Amino acid sequence: MFFFRYIFFIVAAGAIVSSGFAPSGGGASGPTQSGSAGSGPTPYPLKYPAYFGNRVNLREDNPLTVEGVALGRYLFYEKRLSRNNTVSCSGCHQQARAFTDGRAFSLGFDGVQTRRNSMSLTNLLWVRQFFWDGRVGSLEEQAVVPLTDAHEMGQTLEGSADKLRGDARYRRLFAAAFGGDSEGGQGGKVVTGERIVKALAQFERTLISSDARYDRYIRGDYQLTASERRGLDLFFGSAGCGRCHGGPKIFNETYHNNGLDRVFKDSGRAMVTKMAYDRGRFRSVTLRNVELTAPYMHDGRFGSLPEVIDHYNEHVEASNTLSPSLRDTAQRPIRLGLTAVEKKDLLAFLHTLTDSTFITDPRFSEPKF
Ligand code: HEC
Ligand code: HEC
Repeated sequence: MFFFRYIFFIVAAGAIVSSGFAPSGGGASGPTQSGSAGSGPTPYPLKYPAYFGNRVNLREDNPLTVEGVALGRYLFYEKRLSRNNTVSCSGCHQQARAFTDGRAFSLGFDGVQTRRNSMSLTNLLWVRQFFWDGRVGSLEEQAVVPLTDAHEMGQTLEGSADKLRGDARYRRLFAAAFGGDSEGGQGGKVVTGERIVKALAQFERTLISSDARYDRYIRGDYQLTASERRGLDLFFGSAGCGRCHGGPKIFNETYHNNGLDRVFKDSGRAMVTKMAYDRGRFRSVTLRNVELTAPYMHDGRFGSLPEVIDHYNEHVEASNTLSPSLRDTAQRPIRLGLTAVEKKDLLAFLHTLTDSTFITDPRFSEPKF
């Protein structure tokens, strides 16, 4: 991985971001005509390491701005976005746990459990298909799902906008981010469901984790311990983890059946594609901060990383759709045969993916009005 050493940070700002801003709700035809609010929002300076690559998913119809991201942060922590004002996005996505919630299944506003395990929100700027089965193609679309799901937050977008519209602080935040007059007769156009979703997506795009010990190692600022080094060699080498979880971001967006079951309770990717060969396949999610995101898998079945390692080592189950990467030459489920020391080494490597800068970054914490 020596070639990553010479790589610096990319700061992507104005070029993509400043081009297309126009207040979307007010009916004015362009930014130059908005006499009232002064100069419009400021492009958000997005910073990430060059080794993450440039296949970022920014949208022309929702450029990142300082004001939009700030609003999104308030909304991410806003319980009034749920029907009985008890659940915010952060209820199921807590920063200290790399934006998961420590439960196998999460509880919605009415106490009903979600069907799947909450997912870590990290480096979403590079993700193109969201959820365990990849059924949604953008963060904007994704946010609508928990907001309006009957058991998660349980409120229409219009219902959410109505609640926030009564709050002058929100009217000002929305006006600053997307234009319009917060005190004028157009309150309905300043705070809208569409803008709620856009601001949330903007905030989520800034959740970049790139300061784990593994990153420092890639940048040449940290020397792996002997155990971590052996773990890295196993991960990318004979244990084969890197085939599905590889690359510096520790994910590649593909779907696999990793041998959890012979019979599938949740058919995974097949629910989207309706193809038999996708039964039991799920997205190979990022392993960044994996030390903090227990319990594991789409149904939270494993409580700890040693259990996960044991799964890959000796419990991979046979089925028609089991990944070829997890079969031996006779097509049987692999048995890695790791020694106790090798299991420890692999665990030590997984721990190098923990990014304490990310989970304590004040830009991602609950804001105060
Ligand atoms: C009741 C718990 C709960 C709440 C509230 C909740 N989420 Fe989630 N979130 C989940 C679960 C569970 C999943 C995985 C669902 C699946 O795959 O079907 C998920 C998945 C996601 C993903 C997909 C990540 C990926 O890598 O594909 C994003 C993004 C996300 N949530 C953002 C949000 C936002 C934004 C909000 C607030 C508007 C929110 N969530 C509210 C439980 C919750
Ligand atoms: C064939 C591809 C493949 C290989 C090889 C593979 N994984 Fe996975 N991994 C997946 C998929 C797919 C999931 C999600 C499965 C699910 O939830 O149903 C997953 C999930 C995980 C999770 C849980 C993540 C979470 O947030 O819940 C961990 C930890 C993990 N793998 C570690 C490893 C390790 C360590 C290795 C090597 C010993 C490895 N994986 C090898 C595909 C793979």
